[in-house]
Amino acid sequence: MTDYLADIAWSYDNVAVSYAERVVDGADWEVEAFDLVAELAGDGLVVDVGCGPGRTTGLLAERGLKVIGIDLSRGMTEVSRRHHPELDFRVGSMTALDLPDGSASAVVSWWSIIHLPRDVVPTAFAEFYRVLAAGGVLLLGYHVGEESNHKTSGYGGHAMNVHVHRWTASSLTEIAVEAGFTPYPVAGIPGDRLLFRK
Ligand SMILES: C[S@@+](CC[C@H](N)C(=O)[O-])C[C@H]1O[C@@H](n2cnc3c(N)ncnc32)[C@H](O)[C@@H]1O
Repeated sequence: MTDYLADIAWSYDNVAVSYAERVVDGADWEVEAFDLVAELAGDGLVVDVGCGPGRTTGLLAERGLKVIGIDLSRGMTEVSRRHHPELDFRVGSMTALDLPDGSASAVVSWWSIIHLPRDVVPTAFAEFYRVLAAGGVLLLGYHVGEESNHKTSGYGGHAMNVHVHRWTASSLTEIAVEAGFTPYPVAGIPGDRLLFRK
């Protein structure tokens, strides 16, 4: 595993339990975005990349979606299996998804590209494009801005070693278009969430 992936996995292993206790469901804006994925994804496979403790995977499953959650952190995956034993969680990286070409109808990356080095994000987007079927949907959530910071602790003071990269909608759209996606703007979805279609 490359160093930055190992650092992300180590960091989220450290915070997995406290993250699950602190980050909870309910915001209307999240519900609305996932309702939209349910509407667009139909009965195909939805892949929740960087699913963390499975909170978002659970929300997608509640909408009747066939969903799998993938996360780099084994600790997060263990927490997600405890919280949702009925769902399919896998350890893996969004930079090299172990899924066949064209096998998904939606990819949800909910605040999970934020730790990838900027020059690696095109690799992740190429993977999202590869695993989506024609017409498939990509939903991205991310921190808005242009700066990066180094996070050394979090979620109750546990040690972390990750960089948090903020993005503008235009720079992410540029990368997505380069990967082959078409922007799919939806009224009412704010600027820190972006939708694309293959
Ligand atoms: C801020 S958390 C978001 C978790 C979840 N999506 C949510 O909204 O609650 C970021 C998650 O992305 C995961 N992650 C970061 N880089 C990843 C990668 N390359 N592949 C898979 N997961 C990754 C981390 O392990 C962590 O669980």
